[in-house]
Amino acid sequence: MAKVIDGKAVAAGVIEQVTAASNALEAETGARPGLAVVIVGDDPASHVYVSSKSRMAKQCGFKSVQHTLPAETTQVQLEALVAKLNEDPEIHGILVQLPLPDHLETDPVIQSIRPEKDVDGLHVVNAGKLMTGDLDGGLISCTPAGAMLFVRQTHGADLSGLNAVVIGRSNLFGKPMSALLLAANATVTTAHSRTRDLAGVCRNADILVAAVGRPQMVKAEWVKPGATVIDVGINRIDAPERGEGKTRLVGDVAFDECAEVADTITPVPGGVGPMTIAMLMANTVTAAMRAHG
Ligand code: GUN
Repeated sequence: MAKVIDGKAVAAGVIEQVTAASNALEAETGARPGLAVVIVGDDPASHVYVSSKSRMAKQCGFKSVQHTLPAETTQVQLEALVAKLNEDPEIHGILVQLPLPDHLETDPVIQSIRPEKDVDGLHVVNAGKLMTGDLDGGLISCTPAGAMLFVRQTHGADLSGLNAVVIGRSNLFGKPMSALLLAANATVTTAHSRTRDLAGVCRNADILVAAVGRPQMVKAEWVKPGATVIDVGINRIDAPERGEGKTRLVGDVAFDECAEVADTITPVPGGVGPMTIAMLMANTVTAAMRAHG
């Protein structure tokens, strides 16, 4: 049976460090890290995520501001809010929760955030720094940064000689995850829905990272014995065994069967999920320290 990574415990350690850094910054400069979270529309899952981000920011001692905009907000109105937050000296991090409603264009909004305040690491300047190996100068997308902490705990900082496979190629996760693994000297394959023989590709992975949004897609036969398996999926499925109409959360990995083959595996919930919020707090305190350093 594989070792199961306790994401909540690792995240709690990160939050402790962030809180200490935030307190030290305030003691030295009088400035508190400020995080603004912007949400447009009324997607219930997004509201749950955003509330926990705002709550955690307060817990870390940050100034935490949440802007809840109606679904019919226009592109101009949303970009005007970002422009205002860009100029606000008490705000060091700006996060626009995705996905945006269909009538809004995501990219112009993201690119209108000042790169120094882009705590999601989605601005082309931050994505470019990551791709060119400047890991310390920009801000790195929170979920891959969190997943990378797990990889480092298991394998150390140098992944020379290890094969890593990332399933998924999104800007928010797959691409930055592959870049981080590459920067750590792994041999990286970025697989996706058009990959031929996905199972065969995955079976080659010493480090297998799944971020596809398909419940329990990765099966035991896809996993190389002794691999590290990191599950980034969060999928809600029906759970009639829990009672009528009940649901439960599962990842992209069929956990029970893969845990019999892997050396180390992350659970869902309680794996990568808590790390995303913790790394968002870490990015915010980093942005604040840079602004006041
Ligand atoms: N929606 C789901 N995950 C994320 C995230 O990490 N950042 C933003 N902005 N939106 C998301």
